Amino acid sequence: MTPGARLQAVIELLEQAWSGRQPIDQLADVFFKKRRYAGSSDRRGIQETLYQILRHQARLDWWIDRSGQPVSASVRARIIANLALADKTSPDAIAALFTGSNHCPAPLSQTELELADSLYGRPLTHADMPRPVALEYPDWMDASLSALWGDRLEAEISALNQLAPVDLRVNTLKSTPEQAKAELASQFIETETTPLSPLGLRLIGKARLGGTQAFRDGLVEVQDEGSQLLALLCGAEPGMTVIDYCAGAGGKTLALAAAMAVEGRIRGRIYACDISQARINRMQPRLQRAGALAVRRQILSGRNDAWVKANRATADRVLVDVPCTGTGAWRRDPQAKWRFTPEQLDDIRIRQQAILEDAATLVKPGGRLIYATCSLLQEENEQQLFAFLKDHEAFAPLAIDQVWSQTVGGPPPPAGPCLRLSPASTGTDGFFCAVLERRS
Ligand SMILES: C[S@@+](CC[C@H](N)C(=O)[O-])C[C@H]1O[C@@H](n2cnc3c(N)ncnc32)[C@H](O)[C@@H]1O
Repeated sequence: MTPGARLQAVIELLEQAWSGRQPIDQLADVFFKKRRYAGSSDRRGIQETLYQILRHQARLDWWIDRSGQPVSASVRARIIANLALADKTSPDAIAALFTGSNHCPAPLSQTELELADSLYGRPLTHADMPRPVALEYPDWMDASLSALWGDRLEAEISALNQLAPVDLRVNTLKSTPEQAKAELASQFIETETTPLSPLGLRLIGKARLGGTQAFRDGLVEVQDEGSQLLALLCGAEPGMTVIDYCAGAGGKTLALAAAMAVEGRIRGRIYACDISQARINRMQPRLQRAGALAVRRQILSGRNDAWVKANRATADRVLVDVPCTGTGAWRRDPQAKWRFTPEQLDDIRIRQQAILEDAATLVKPGGRLIYATCSLLQEENEQQLFAFLKDHEAFAPLAIDQVWSQTVGGPPPPAGPCLRLSPASTGTDGFFCAVLERRS
């Protein structure tokens, strides 16, 4: 594809992303499936530009607004601004990409040309930008993030605005970290062990994992190191009854199932529950590949679910990985930060508390309830945890450093009732986790 045709692909994908709710990586997958002629360097180039524009969006919009040109912050305007500000492309060179022929974007209008002219030569980040603009986060989260991080705010947010590595979890139902590493190396995929998770491998450089034998045979699954740690902290063991209450497509279920295996066979009972039929369906091929078909999938109907009532006080471990703002995963889904509104945060907090309450009824005396989010906001984390504990005296938080020593191993995190992970502090996506024990 020519540089102009790649740019047109970026325009189409961003326009689709902003008109619907599908994440950009899913849209890109569908886009490339329909365009088999696009080679791997086209894909990479298009994806890099897409993510770059989403990561620069607040600053691009600030400059577009400041340019004085009668142009709104449209996808085209952002692309022109990004070329001029971030890539330092001259207005003439920008115009040469927008030819309108051979799949290139339509020629620049006079206003767009003037926009390119007025921005060329300027820095992407300007001293006059308000902090949320310069650091690329929604201004309505400013009070919350400042209270959380204080003088670490810039370092934490900057780390969230970088590209994330690709981490793999070795599936111990089928392999060991050493075997999986060697198998991948034999297919020219180099990895290094992750610093915190004993089951993690991190890709060195870029690789297409999906086509490899190691992936197809279920030796590894793509999973951020932080997610791996959360699953380990559950302390699932062979013979237990374990419930992954918000299982989604099964990322953590697979890790829990592997922890319950003896000689490649799952011992005990493991349930993957969710209200979404589509997500539960997506789990099936992953279970198959991982050799974890013993996982029982359960669709829930929401509150007052009959299955939940019938299974009261039966589980040794209940993981509640609630729906959240996803602020901890901004490295992978930068568009998510611009989609959430304060009203949606209020709604989701109500849902989180309801889900936690329902899931708690499944824990047997002496069992554990693990509350987890991929959010960084205290409103979804500590505040939810303490609100729940206030009304549920039967539950008490375990010291997270001790749980870590028993389940993950290696140097423990700071003592306290909960764990926080973030790209700047642990090199993982952002996560929150607390392990509560139900008193006998
Ligand atoms: C953060 S995602 C889970 C991700 C998953 N644990 C993983 O590791 O891939 C939250 C999930 O909660 C599910 N959910 C939302 N409301 C629920 C409810 N009332 N009961 C159970 N699951 C619910 C959503 O469908 C979504 O799949």
